[in-house]
Amino acid sequence: MKKFFTAVVLTLMPLATLAATGSGWELDRIQVDVNDHESLQRGARHYMNYCMGCHSLQYERYQRMATAFNIPEEMVEEYLKFDPSARIGDLMQNAMRDADAKQWFGVVPPDLTLASRARGVDWLYTYLRTFYADPSRPYGVNNKVFPDVGMPHVLVELQGLQQCAPGPVRAANGGIRRDPITNKELLYGEDGEPLNPCGRLEVVQAGLLSSAEYDQLVYDLVNFLNFMGEPMQQERQRIGVYVLLFLALLFVFAWLLNREYWKDIR
Ligand code: HEC
Repeated sequence: MKKFFTAVVLTLMPLATLAATGSGWELDRIQVDVNDHESLQRGARHYMNYCMGCHSLQYERYQRMATAFNIPEEMVEEYLKFDPSARIGDLMQNAMRDADAKQWFGVVPPDLTLASRARGVDWLYTYLRTFYADPSRPYGVNNKVFPDVGMPHVLVELQGLQQCAPGPVRAANGGIRRDPITNKELLYGEDGEPLNPCGRLEVVQAGLLSSAEYDQLVYDLVNFLNFMGEPMQQERQRIGVYVLLFLALLFVFAWLLNREYWKDIR
């Protein structure tokens, strides 16, 4: 029995780690769509422009992206592949040297081919939208779901700079604490101090994009990373339909055969 419980706990443990972000910040949820080619194309372009310099995608090839998103190869050459020595069939590597990266950021920026599998799409979506000003950090920014991250806010010119603002706190029953009379969220304690000084983020220096446009850009990026993490998704879903149809057909014959076997026994 004890063994059984240990097995159950061990099986469920990865779920528990997935559920917690570690920082207590609630993740925003998105529905990714591997069939939305326009979003994937935009995501690929943003990635190559803003991320590839530091984060490689070295377990995937340019070719796969071109075929899956219906991008002609000349367009890949021109707009998506900035390394002139790489060919379309090559893995998507970058030129940053590990030793240099360590010196600049304290850590080597990880390869992001499998980031969507390791972190989940909701985490990525929230991560890229929750950088905020923090003068105590080397690059002047911190992150809500990845505290003390070594990455600078590379999209700051698009999003603008966010700053902490007082946010709501949770009551003992799990809901948001509200003023019993006005029903407004309680942001300040009786002493006038914010209860949760960094519970919300507000843009204090506007960026080039509105907040909806920025969210769309991040969505496209995460959609793209989700594809990279499992490029066979479309194929898997298409084949899955045939497999289920085949099983349904097989069921008819299996049932007829079963009936035949038991005919004289019952
Ligand atoms: C100037 C270099 C640089 C650029 C450009 C950059 N990053 Fe990063 N990124 C880093 C570094 C360094 C880390 C590691 C941070 C750490 O571990 O503290 C990191 C970490 C991350 C992580 C967390 C990985 C993990 O699971 O630990 C994600 C996700 C990420 N970056 C996404 C992006 C995306 C998407 C872009 C493009 C919009 C981007 N980064 C652009 C330097 C960069």
